[in-house]
Amino acid sequence: MPSVKKMLAYNQTWSSKVKQESPDFFKTIAQAQSPEILWIGCSDSRVGPDQLGGLPMGSLFVHRNIANIFATNDLNSLAVLEYAIDELKVPNIVVCGHYGCGGIHAALEHSGVQPVDLWLDQVRFVYNRHAKELKKLPREQRAKRLSELNVEAQVHNICRNTIVREAWKRGQEVSVFGLIFDIQDGLLKQLGIEFRSSEQWQARYGEAFSD
Ligand code: CO
Repeated sequence: MPSVKKMLAYNQTWSSKVKQESPDFFKTIAQAQSPEILWIGCSDSRVGPDQLGGLPMGSLFVHRNIANIFATNDLNSLAVLEYAIDELKVPNIVVCGHYGCGGIHAALEHSGVQPVDLWLDQVRFVYNRHAKELKKLPREQRAKRLSELNVEAQVHNICRNTIVREAWKRGQEVSVFGLIFDIQDGLLKQLGIEFRSSEQWQARYGEAFSD
């Protein structure tokens, strides 16, 4: 296990260095966490939010899975959202997809009954909703566009969830953003998806989900 050994060795050096520079650092962060962002991203090893966002420890409450899905029937996703909103009062939620996502490509190319295939049905639902637009695009563009539409769909799932809607109703600050990370140039791209209230979200998606 050379990689794990390397990690353990690095950790020793890192911990000593942090304690040298700031002797109370670990004592302080051990007391409580107060993250500014709930990050919902892909499990892909190239899209680690701490690295690409340059944020210090304690800034991000993280949930990652294949193809950055927020599934409304997934207890894991729901528990993360509930804890982040109701307990930690995290004011920002970011759903971040990425171009070159293996999950998105797999959803486009095949289907099956293995666990990954079943999980990616969530992405196939998004594809089916936008099939007319997506079918017109060349292969690579189609995957990119589906990544963006998937982010939008997951943001939508979050905004229509009672956990977020109840928070908005009681006046709690919650902003939900959709972003895409481009592995080719290392840049985070905004998708024009940003909701700070029930009204903003409903203005975009109609009255179908109004109270
Ligand atoms: Co991915």
